Amino acid sequence: MTTKPAIASAHSNIALIKYWGKSDSARNLPAVPSLSLTLDGLTTTTRVQFDAELDADQVELDGAVVTGREHARVVALLDRVRALQGPGFELRARVESRNDFPTAAGLASSASGFAALALAASTAAGLSLSVEAISGLARQSSASAARSLFGGFASLLAGSEHAHSVAPLDHWDLRLLVAVTEEGRKPLGSTEAMEVTKRDSPYYSAWVAHAPELYREAETAVRERQFDTLGACMEQSTLMMHASMWATRPAILFFTDTTLAVVHRVRALRASGLPCYFTIDAGPHVKVLAQAEHAEAIQQELAAMNQVKRVIPCAPGPGARLLSDEGTPC
Ligand code: DP6
Repeated sequence: MTTKPAIASAHSNIALIKYWGKSDSARNLPAVPSLSLTLDGLTTTTRVQFDAELDADQVELDGAVVTGREHARVVALLDRVRALQGPGFELRARVESRNDFPTAAGLASSASGFAALALAASTAAGLSLSVEAISGLARQSSASAARSLFGGFASLLAGSEHAHSVAPLDHWDLRLLVAVTEEGRKPLGSTEAMEVTKRDSPYYSAWVAHAPELYREAETAVRERQFDTLGACMEQSTLMMHASMWATRPAILFFTDTTLAVVHRVRALRASGLPCYFTIDAGPHVKVLAQAEHAEAIQQELAAMNQVKRVIPCAPGPGARLLSDEGTPC
């Protein structure tokens, strides 16, 4: 016996106001509120089918078999779906997932990955959950993934079980230009890095104390489309988050020479009259926020830097959705 397969796609989201640190690690609840923009690029597509012939969950990412810790994280989500379906539901699943961008390189692959998996797995199991419940399922695997269920601007409040929508994708015609620096896998995953920060950084408590105020200012800036205020909040959130990591011993340092070169470039472009702001996650890449009318000029400036490998321009995108067998949205 097999269930009908379900295919879902989800896009990465980039936090304008960062989530970093958990109030409850066992339940994966965030210690600070975060605010993100879901993108129209950086897509994960995932197919899930439960099958009585299988004696273990099989997981493939970009055609390669997934084992170890990554496999365990997928199985944990599938287990939660099986438990929701009821005690009699014990079928194992075949999971096939594809990213259209480099995995685990600081491009938020876990966000799009677990959002697509939560939607595909719950649908394949015959559940028809609310978007909040699916966001909650994704959040337990990776908190940033909770936000990718929603299109446009989304937030995940401190201690919250699921994300919610702040504004739809057509609210504001912004662009995020992803300046890819080095390819390759990052040295430390965000889950581990934020646990170390919480445990060892004398600045962690200051980060947690200041984050709500920054969140409120940024949420108002999004609602009222105040670009410079949003940009200033975004840069402060990024640098406060990284400063909390730099204060551990040894320091957790995701920046490279190129990261800093792009940061300086963004500040110089701004000083020359091109409005743009930077944000950096748990990796070396720099994401640059711009208004649509200035995006092309800024993209060209970034792409002209010889340390920058490529620039991926992204616009606001939709939340996770189910696809037909042909790959079109249902
Ligand atoms: C820097 O969502 O990957 O991208 O909940 O432990 O899986 P876990 O962490 P994860 O952390 C993302 C951190 C960030 C900031 C953000 O997306 O808000």
